Parts: sequence; C-alpha cells; structure tokens
Amino acid sequence: MSPHFPALTPDQKKELADIAQRIVASGKGILAADESVGTMGKRLTQIGLENTDEHRRFYRQLLFTTDPSIKEHIGGIIFFHETMYQKTDGGVPFVKLVKDNGILVGIKVDKGVVPLAGTNGEGTTQGLDGLAERCAQYKKDGADFAKWRCVLKISPNTPSRLSIIENANVLARYATICQQNGLVPIVEPEILPDGDHDLKTCQYITEKVLAATYKALSDHHVYLEGTLLKPNMVTAGHASTTKYTPEQVGMATLTALRRTVPPAVPGITFLSGGQSEEDASIHLNAINKLHLIKPWALTFSYGRALQASVLKAWGGKKENLKAAQDELMRRAKINGQASKGEYKPTGTGAAAGESLFVANHAY
Ligand code: 13P
Repeated sequence: MSPHFPALTPDQKKELADIAQRIVASGKGILAADESVGTMGKRLTQIGLENTDEHRRFYRQLLFTTDPSIKEHIGGIIFFHETMYQKTDGGVPFVKLVKDNGILVGIKVDKGVVPLAGTNGEGTTQGLDGLAERCAQYKKDGADFAKWRCVLKISPNTPSRLSIIENANVLARYATICQQNGLVPIVEPEILPDGDHDLKTCQYITEKVLAATYKALSDHHVYLEGTLLKPNMVTAGHASTTKYTPEQVGMATLTALRRTVPPAVPGITFLSGGQSEEDASIHLNAINKLHLIKPWALTFSYGRALQASVLKAWGGKKENLKAAQDELMRRAKINGQASKGEYKPTGTGAAAGESLFVANHAY
C-alpha cells in the first residue's frame, strides 16, 4: 500500500473543510428541502393542492423568502434538481437568493433506492452513473454540498451483511466523486424507524452500520474533514411499546457515535426520521446536554421536522404565507438552540406534537 497518490490538492481540501465548517457553525443546521417531485406531491396533497411545478415552486419560494435572519440558525439548504433552476416571482434564481443571504446550497444527487435481489426487502441506492459530470455542473451552478441517502432496515434478519457492505461502499464512491468536484458529501446511512425493536437493538445496528461506513470511506480515500454525517438518532422502533426518555435516547445515540465516528468529521447533522417536531428538537437537545466529549458539531438536517408546521399553517393559501414562514423561523430557532443544548421546550407550533412517521419512507 502506498500513500503516494493523493486524491485531493491542499487547496481542494481547504475548500471542502471550510464549506463543511460553515454549514455546521455554532447554532446552525440544515433545512432539507430536497423532497423529490413524488414526495413533494404527497405533502401538497395533504393540504389539498395539486402537485404542479408552480405549486412546488411557490412552496419553495415561501421557505427561501423567510426573514433573512434565519441564517443565524440555518447554515445550508438541500435542494432537489428542479429547485436549482427555479426563480422567485421577481425572477431571482433561488440559488442566488439563498447564497446572497449567506446560506450554502446543497443538492440531492442520488437517484433513489432500488431492491437488492435475494435479500429480505433490502435495497441499495443508485445514481453513480454520470455522477461526476452532474456534480461538476451543480458546482458551477452554485451548489457547495451534496446529499445521498442510503436506507437500512431493522428486523430479526436485517440489515444483512450484504446490505451493510454495499451501502457503505456506494456512500464512499459517492463521497469521493463529490470531493473531486468541490462538493462536500453528506453521508447518510439512514436506519429506518420501522419495526418494534428496542433502543439497545437500534444502538447495536447503528454502531455496526457506522463502523462499516467509516471503513469504506477510509478505503476510498475520502477526506473526512470535508464531509458531514447524516445519521438516524438511536431510537426504539416506531412500533415498540417501551417508551424511552430523551436522556436515554441521547445517551444511546451519543454512545454509538463516539464508538464509530472519527473526530476528524466536522459535523453530524441528524435526520428527523418521522419523529414529531418537538421530539426531534428535544432529542437533539438531550444529546447536546450530555457531559461527554463530543468532538463534532451535533446538529440537525431535518425535512419533516422543520416543515410539518409550515405546511399546516400555510394550507396552500397565499394569505397564510407569513404565518407559515413564522413556523419555519420558530422551528429553526428551536433547533439552533437544541444544537447547543440550550432549548427549553415550549410545545407550541401548528404540528409540533404530531407523529411524522411514514412506513418505509422514501425521499
Ligand atoms: P427527515 O428529517 O424528514 O427524516 O428527512 C431528512 C432527509 O433529508 C432524509 O434524507
């Protein structure tokens, strides 16, 4: 084995590390607004709107024109492909609007989950073909980071070894291609909350999946300082009858991360995974309040847990725009506080306590 074939120049490394640090600067996290056309359709249907280009554009405009002070809590926003090229009513490209406010733009680059034949319903994520060219184009068009979501399932015989190894490897291939093109890869091996497993089982599986992921990232020469991890929190399965306290969830999550994620990684940005908005905030707060060494920023990259109250308050009506933006600001601020362990729960918000669980969730 030879160390003489560096993958990145010192300048490339510096750029990637700087981007990653900016996204997870103190008190900041990520707004995941990269729902695919199909997933966005489900959200719009819930509030009685048809899934048209214009409705999706209007909704993203609502999110991105929230008061600019939201940048104190949001370091990055993840876009879906079509959003990269949409504009405000006044003709300002969304990418320019967001970047001019000091928020970095990310782009979902995977092409979705496909079955792994011969397994018990497990999958891998496709999208490597042409990825380098797509990354280069997105970088030119203003993106600075990317997301790729892999999915693993807990049941008595899953995740299988094949699924753990395959998903770790495809995440590593994606990460190295992103870095070659100046994009910070968000590495997302999501373990779904479906099932009735207990907290200990989720912790054990999370540790095995993360350990395999970091082995693959090392094998593929990924520059960890220029990456972010987007894991599930360690929680009991959605159908578990045992309830755990936020402190128990926090300790199980932090223990799994401390055992597996190298300190070179600048930030861990949790997905919300079907938790209610309040639970996602309270759990993030509990993780950050623990008195153990935490060598990375521990923050949020929420989709559902930042948008449920927004969608409810908006209800598809122009006159509710301000109320909907106020909900986004409220959740962003709360999660910013939780990322510092400073959130004092209030329990308010249009959908704050509602479960956002979706069985076998696709993005
Ligand atoms: P949720 O926060 O809704 O789980 O989604 C985050 C995400 O980006 C999943 O890929």
